[in-house]
Amino acid sequence: MSDDEKAVKIPAQADGPTEQGATLTKDAAPGEVLLKVTGLQKHFPIKKGLLQRQVGAVHAVDGIDFEVRSGETLGVVGESGCGKSTMGRLITRLLEPTAGKVEFQGKDITHLGVSGMRPLRRDVQMIFQDPYSSLNPRHTIGTIVGAPFKLQGVEPEGGVKKEVQRLLSVVGLNPEHYNRYPHEFSGGQRQRIGIARALALNPKLVVADEPVSALDVSIQAQVVNLLDDLQQELGLTYVIIAHDLSVVRHVSDRIAVMYLGKIVELADRDLLYKSPMHPYTKALMSAVPIPDPRRKHAKSERILLKGDVPSPISPPSGCRFHTRCWKATQVCKTTEPVLVELRTGQQVACHHPENFEDQAPQDTVLLTVAKEAAELVADEVLAESAETSAAVAAEVAAEAAAETAEPTEATGDTEAVDETASEASGDDTPAKEK
Ligand SMILES: Nc1ncnc2c1ncn2[C@@H]1O[C@H](COP(=O)(O)OP(=O)(O)OP(=O)(O)O)[C@@H](O)[C@H]1O
Ligand code: SF4
Ligand SMILES: [Mg+2]
Repeated sequence: MSDDEKAVKIPAQADGPTEQGATLTKDAAPGEVLLKVTGLQKHFPIKKGLLQRQVGAVHAVDGIDFEVRSGETLGVVGESGCGKSTMGRLITRLLEPTAGKVEFQGKDITHLGVSGMRPLRRDVQMIFQDPYSSLNPRHTIGTIVGAPFKLQGVEPEGGVKKEVQRLLSVVGLNPEHYNRYPHEFSGGQRQRIGIARALALNPKLVVADEPVSALDVSIQAQVVNLLDDLQQELGLTYVIIAHDLSVVRHVSDRIAVMYLGKIVELADRDLLYKSPMHPYTKALMSAVPIPDPRRKHAKSERILLKGDVPSPISPPSGCRFHTRCWKATQVCKTTEPVLVELRTGQQVACHHPENFEDQAPQDTVLLTVAKEAAELVADEVLAESAETSAAVAAEVAAEAAAETAEPTEATGDTEAVDETASEASGDDTPAKEK
C-alpha cells in the first residue's frame, strides 16, 4: 500500500492560517474520565555481572492510582527522582508498566503493542522537558511539526504545509519561519514548536513533562499562559509535571504530590493550597514564595527538608517519608499509609495528617518521638508544629475533661500536654506562652 493510499483525510482544524486569533476546534465531553490509572508500577531492573543477573530494581513508580477527567489539568509535583517523568511515560505508553492498569476512555491500554497504540498516539501526546534536545537540529521546523502527520499517515485538508503554518500561528510563531532550523529559535520559541508538534493531531490528552523548567523565568509564564489559552480554546486535557508547586499553581484544577514513586496527596488545587494535609506537601508549599505583603513573615515558616530523597532501589519501610518527616512515629516506620479521601476532594496517605481535627491525640504522642528527629527540621518548624498540636490537644483535653471530670483535673491534663509539646519543640517555654 502506498503512502498516499494509507493517508487518511482529516478535516482542517480551523478556517485557515491567520496571524492572529487562529483557532482549532475539538469535541470534548467535560468531566468524563479520560484516563484512569490503577496500581501503576514501573520497576527498572538492575543487572550485574557477565550473565546480567537481576540484582535489584529501581522502584521508580510504585503503585499509583488516579483519574484525569476531560477538560481538566492535573498538576504532578515532587522532588527530582520521585518518578514524575516515568509516570508521564507510562501513561503515554512510551514505557511498558511492570504492573497495574492504564485505561483511556474506558479502554485498557496497559499492554497494547505498537500497532494497537498507533490510533491512540493521535489522542495522547507528550511535550518534553528540554526544548533543546527534543527537537532534531537537522530538521526544519516544518518537518518537525509535520512529522506526526507523516507517522500517522494523515493528510490534513489543504496539505501538511498549510496545516503546519496554521499550527505555528496558533502557538504564536511566525508561519513564515517554516523552513528555519531549531538553532535559529530561542528556548521559549522552541518549546512553542514542541507544543505545535504535540497539537498537530488534535489530541485529547497532553502530558507536559516540566514544559517550562528549562526556560528563563520571564519566558516560563508566557509558555504556561499559552498552554492555558490552548486548553480554553481546544478543550484539551493536561497532565502537567513540575518539580515545584509554583508552576502548576495557576493552571491546575487538581494536584498530585509524588514522593519516591508514590502519590502522597491528591487534592483540588484550592484545598491543597489552603490546607495541605501531608507533611511533605506542607514542606513543598513552604518553599513557594508568597507574593503577599500581609505575609511578610512567611519566610520564617519555610520548612527545610534535610537530606536527600532516599534511594528508590530500597525505599524506606512503612511511610517512605518517615526518614525526613518531623512527625514520624513508630507506626510510620512499620505501616505504609494508604491514600484515602480525608476530605471531599482531598486524598492523603499519612498516619498523622496536618490540618485534620482527629490529629490531636496522635500528635501528642508523636511529639515526644519527634524529639529524636528534631535535628531534621528547623527549630521554628518544630515549635510551630508543637504549638498547633498543643493548642488542639489542649482543646480536646479540656472538652473531654468538661464532660467527664472536675475542672481542676482538666487543667492538669492540659498542662501535661503542654509539657510534652514544649519538650518536643526543644525549648523550655511552655507552648501556650509562645
Ligand atoms: N530507564 C531507566 N533505567 C533505570 N532507572 C531509571 C530509568 N529511568 C528513570 N530511572 C530512575 O527512576 C527514578 C525516577 O526517575 P524519573 O526520571 O521518573 O524522576 P523525575 O521525578 O522525573 O525526576 P526529575 O525531576 O529529575 O526529572 C530515578 O531514580 C531514576 O534514576
Ligand atoms: S505517615 Fe508518618 S512519617 Fe509519613 S508523612 Fe505522615 S506523619 Fe510523616
Ligand atoms: Mg523528570
